[in-house]
Amino acid sequence: MTDTSVGIDAVEIHAGKLKLDLAETFAPAMGDDPGKYTKGLGLYASSLPDTYEDIVTMGANAAHRLMERKGLEPEDIGRIDVATESAFDHSKPVSTYIAGCLEQVFEGDFHHANKGERKFACVSGTQSVDDAYNWIRAGRNRGRAALVVATDTALYARDDPGEATQGAGAVAMLIDEDPDFVELSTEQGYGSADETDFLKPQQQFPSVDGKRSVNVYLARMREALVDYESVGGDIHPDDFRLGPFHTPFPGMVRKAAVLAYRHITRDTEIEEELAEEIGRQPRPEAFDDEEAYTEALGEYTDALKDTDHYQGWYDRTIDPTLDLSREVGNWYTGSVHVARVSGIRSLVEDGEDAEGEKLLVGSYGSGAQAEIHVETIQENYESEIEALNVDEQLAARYDLSFDEYEDVHDAHNFDEETSVEEFTAPDGEFVFDGWGRMGERKYRYVE
Ligand code: HMG
Repeated sequence: MTDTSVGIDAVEIHAGKLKLDLAETFAPAMGDDPGKYTKGLGLYASSLPDTYEDIVTMGANAAHRLMERKGLEPEDIGRIDVATESAFDHSKPVSTYIAGCLEQVFEGDFHHANKGERKFACVSGTQSVDDAYNWIRAGRNRGRAALVVATDTALYARDDPGEATQGAGAVAMLIDEDPDFVELSTEQGYGSADETDFLKPQQQFPSVDGKRSVNVYLARMREALVDYESVGGDIHPDDFRLGPFHTPFPGMVRKAAVLAYRHITRDTEIEEELAEEIGRQPRPEAFDDEEAYTEALGEYTDALKDTDHYQGWYDRTIDPTLDLSREVGNWYTGSVHVARVSGIRSLVEDGEDAEGEKLLVGSYGSGAQAEIHVETIQENYESEIEALNVDEQLAARYDLSFDEYEDVHDAHNFDEETSVEEFTAPDGEFVFDGWGRMGERKYRYVE
């Protein structure tokens, strides 16, 4: 077991090349007020995959850019782990397809890299990072780094309430010793229970109990926070510069943030300072029954939300982590990793010296499990952020009309036979290239 610093050395993002504008295009077609999306859910647009894009192309494109930028060859990579909940094969992992793509453009091969695929809804992206971390800390990596790719086409059935939260994209991360970007804590907290709120039993689009899924997210996240504190010690709001959380839609994080703030300010000087304005937090021992306590807690939380203390903390710690999500929707396994980039990017934009600052990272997957750990921003974070081209990608997306959106959704529906033309021209990227004789998907690099 080594005690070297391990974490995320580099990150790259590939966004689906199409855009569905929720306020301008989706809301009118659904007969909804745009405010439901922009204010209620906190979303402006979804990234969707063009007809030649899928989880393999998006993941391979992000990984290709990452390896080129860091000057890596296949022999430098000892593991490729893919996290996805959009897989199309029950046996052959997506990581083999991605390795196959990368071998088309790099000298050498990944024959001595361990490959796999992780499944636990959205939290599997973080679980794959964990696997890589453990492999390096165990000293089994022979000096090599791990490539983790979180890639999803997060599509819902048409007219499902989740349709507004769709998204598609991939995040590639290099996990290594002495990382350039963020170091991960050894301490972790879990909140995990057998839940039936969002699942895909042998089906492409999820069965979702949307309202329940929101409550399950909050309950598991709370459990994970308490579990984290049992090993990492009590958390105080001033301990963390940013709180990137799994973001199915920004409104979900808004709900979670106020509960987290209430929890981490209990028995602190902040609770005392707030007492003059909104009273102290209700304690269960002061109530005769659970219902009265819950009601008082709800009233306190509503009042807390409107205080300058809370608003200041939210604007500084949480809001910057949501900027990218607002423009791309839910990327499932990649979502919390997009939130981390979004938050740190805002610190760079503001010219803040953030080396050594801490992040409280909350990952979540339906079914259901939350995980909390801490990260420390490393010396070279600025150059890692400046190397990203996510803004250019988002600006270059093709803006779909509603009819075109319907065609794109059909084109990615495994049960529909369609011949929808592509909307954008591939340029220096991997594309889906049809089917092989055993039903495998084939890929080609377009110069
Ligand atoms: P809905 O029922 O269509 O929306 O779907 P709503 O009517 O509840 O409205 C949403 C919000 O907008 C509400 O705010 C409204 O008040 C507000 P809230 O009361 O909740 O604070 N609103 C407006 N605000 C301003 N102006 C207006 C206006 N109209 C309404 N005009 C639902 C919402 C979340 C159920 C749906 O989007 C859904 O089913 N989503 C998919 C499930 C999901 O994302 N769940 C989140 C937790 S589970 C999770 O994160 C895991 C996941 O990523 C999967 C995985 O792990 O693999 C999903």
